[in-house]
Amino acid sequence: MKRKTRVGILTGGGDCPGLNAVIRAVAKKLMIENNTEIIGIKDGYEGLIRNYYKRLDYADVSGILTLGGTILGTSNIANPYRQAVKVKGKTVLRDVSKKVIQNIKRMKLDSIVCIGGDGTLTIASSLCKDGIPVVGVPKTIDNDIRGTDVTFGFDTAVAIATEGIDRVHTTAQSHHRVMIVEVMGRTAGWIALHAGIAGGGDIILIPEIPFEIDKIASVIRQRHKRGSRFSIIVVAEGAKPKGGKVVIKRMVQESTIAERLGGIGMVLGRQLEEQTGLETRTVIMGHLLRGGSPTSTDRILATRLGISAAEFVIKKKFGMMVGVNGSSISAVALKEVAKGPKLIKADNQLVNAARCVGTSFGD
Ligand code: F6P
Repeated sequence: MKRKTRVGILTGGGDCPGLNAVIRAVAKKLMIENNTEIIGIKDGYEGLIRNYYKRLDYADVSGILTLGGTILGTSNIANPYRQAVKVKGKTVLRDVSKKVIQNIKRMKLDSIVCIGGDGTLTIASSLCKDGIPVVGVPKTIDNDIRGTDVTFGFDTAVAIATEGIDRVHTTAQSHHRVMIVEVMGRTAGWIALHAGIAGGGDIILIPEIPFEIDKIASVIRQRHKRGSRFSIIVVAEGAKPKGGKVVIKRMVQESTIAERLGGIGMVLGRQLEEQTGLETRTVIMGHLLRGGSPTSTDRILATRLGISAAEFVIKKKFGMMVGVNGSSISAVALKEVAKGPKLIKADNQLVNAARCVGTSFGD
């Protein structure tokens, strides 16, 4: 008797609202339409390195649509091509990809669906070059993946960030303060831009438009003179002053991108209080943006992407990522994704829209 097709699913990188919705969609479609056996690989690429996996039955992928995080676990450190291993107490990076390929063969996987950000998808692209049939699904709250208009998780992050901005308005107005809300996004300002517009931020600071502290102080003073005795600043964690540097919160050496950004909001708060004489407070939203249940928009997007990824598996469209292009789902070569993050361009329409309603970018 011919054995069933076996497809592995893994989630890599930071967790993100909608991961479980993708797992559910990929697994259900393949089980229902293609009589496929689904293998859940645990903790991202760590599972391929260490042989951590389990068979997923229909019941395992039912009732998970609305769940945050990932039922499979994840790792933003594991990397078959530069895995951190301890040698005589020291951490060294080793290429363990041959062992991973052997493990995949031992697991009898016919293909793997890799759900992750640029790090995970870049590794997926290398695995594909090494002969493993892979399909990618773009995930990140940062919305910075090349080849797709949008990623699932982004809408949820923007909704939570917007709620945060709405809530600090009360204190800003009542106490006549400057309130700074710092949001995640790595080297891209998508979350800050969208939430800043939705929450009516007076000043939005993004990595793509380096700011000048004097300009920000002058906008706050002008607002004060006009009778608006408070100001709301939405700052992306990767924002930096003209000619200056980003603020690094910590280094995770084992990770492909070691820098973890964060803290620019605190630095700005101190500088602006000094320059304007106005009381200033900073709220860092951080991982709040990544936790919990996905919005309805993200549930729908994750389901569409998951179903398309399953279709790619059935049609053997390997080495590809499912992407969003306008209202359609497109096929994007995984190697495209490895070319670097999708950043906000100078002529971005939303930046112009924000400027039209008087928002400053501190430039
Ligand atoms: O890529 C998602 C993200 O949340 C970024 O916005 C942030 O810079 C980073 O991950 C934080 O990573 P960690 O969870 O390792 O601190």
